[in-house]
Amino acid sequence: MSARIRSDNELGLIANAKRVLPGGTFGNLAADVVIREGSGGRVWDESGNEYVDFLLGSGPMLVGHGHPEVTAAVQAQLPLGTTFFANNRHGIALAEAIVAAVPCAEQVRFVTSGTEADLYAMRVARAFRKRDKILKFEGGYHGMSDYALMSLAPKRPGNFPQGVPDSAGIPHSVREEMLVAPFNDIETVASLIREHRDELAGIIIEPFQRLIPPAPGFLQALRKITAEHGIPLIFDEVVTGFRFAYGGAQEYYGVTPDLCTLGKVIGGGFPLAAIAGRADMMAHFDKSLVGDEGFLMQVGTLSGNPVAAVAGLATLNILKRPGAYERIFATGRELKGALSEMLKRAGLPAQVIGEPPLFDVVFSSEEIRDYRGTLRGDAELLAQFNKLLRERGIMKGESKYYVSLAHTADDTRRTCEAWASAIDELVNMRKGR
Ligand SMILES: Cc1ncc(COP(=O)(O)O)c(C=O)c1O
Repeated sequence: MSARIRSDNELGLIANAKRVLPGGTFGNLAADVVIREGSGGRVWDESGNEYVDFLLGSGPMLVGHGHPEVTAAVQAQLPLGTTFFANNRHGIALAEAIVAAVPCAEQVRFVTSGTEADLYAMRVARAFRKRDKILKFEGGYHGMSDYALMSLAPKRPGNFPQGVPDSAGIPHSVREEMLVAPFNDIETVASLIREHRDELAGIIIEPFQRLIPPAPGFLQALRKITAEHGIPLIFDEVVTGFRFAYGGAQEYYGVTPDLCTLGKVIGGGFPLAAIAGRADMMAHFDKSLVGDEGFLMQVGTLSGNPVAAVAGLATLNILKRPGAYERIFATGRELKGALSEMLKRAGLPAQVIGEPPLFDVVFSSEEIRDYRGTLRGDAELLAQFNKLLRERGIMKGESKYYVSLAHTADDTRRTCEAWASAIDELVNMRKGR
């Protein structure tokens, strides 16, 4: 297979981006590709190269790009106004749909991004418990706030529960407000909770951390301990919400938190996210219920934006239909199985981890249970594999295959061909090392 074509048009855009954007990017994917359009489970770059798309806008496009029903809903709303900073019926209907779907959701507050949703969810826990500290898990991603960027991806992990800031510009004092625990290690988590229970405002966790599923019983045990101590449990479902099941990871794994955050899928490809949860905790957004002391100030220009709300509602309507999740899971299972088999046959020390709607390879043969386990994976080999796949028409992020309802049997076939060819080349490259 030949390398993709690079047109002067795309190269010119890449050069312009380098001039006006730091690092030549929006901060997400590397600067070496400019996407022109998407349709279903495919995208095209500005040179006209076609890709099977497993990036899916980093997750939101679960029903595929340009789904006719989502497009029609958005087109119908556009001439009626695109933002109001006031209640509108579509936002209300979306909140109703979330309350009907998500087990912990008694009420919903809309924001614009997952980062904001996580930031406010932590603040709700602090307001509710009248304590300051939040416990998060090493390697857990909760957006880009100062609090969340504590031990997301530490190069040199510290001693638990001490967090390591992931970014420049984070006040030193934030370290004192966050405790960090190992994912899937209930003994350590339990002893940290016992030790710090009087200072803890809440615990935030990705129920499926990046690519790592919870060990059997881990979330259940975490739920039990937090309930015993009256410590709010927040599930970050920005990725898993409406992806793992219509009710999210809480439905899929059968554990109901006190609060959750949602994003990505609920905005149907537009900027919209939410905090959802128990009415007595959500009450902190309502001054008439909690008074000045308990009131949590929260305002956002685009909150409940009607265009995003109609796109989200149309997306949820598609996902609600019988067979939608069966199809997503069947596609994911077939892809995961095929990739595992090919890597095994090639004799590479690798495993495919995750769940059918979201998975990737880790180049390590050791079991991956937590963030430190992922560090044992060969990141360079993964980057090479991703690069070879990009040249063979597969679009993905650094470490995730997002599966879509729109992926077809032909997408699966093409992907398997690309995997086979890229793995051959990877094996030859390793021989030549
Ligand atoms: C689990 C999780 N939480 C929060 C976020 C932040 O969401 P956003 O990028 O909308 O701020 C992400 C983004 O990928 C995420 O994966």
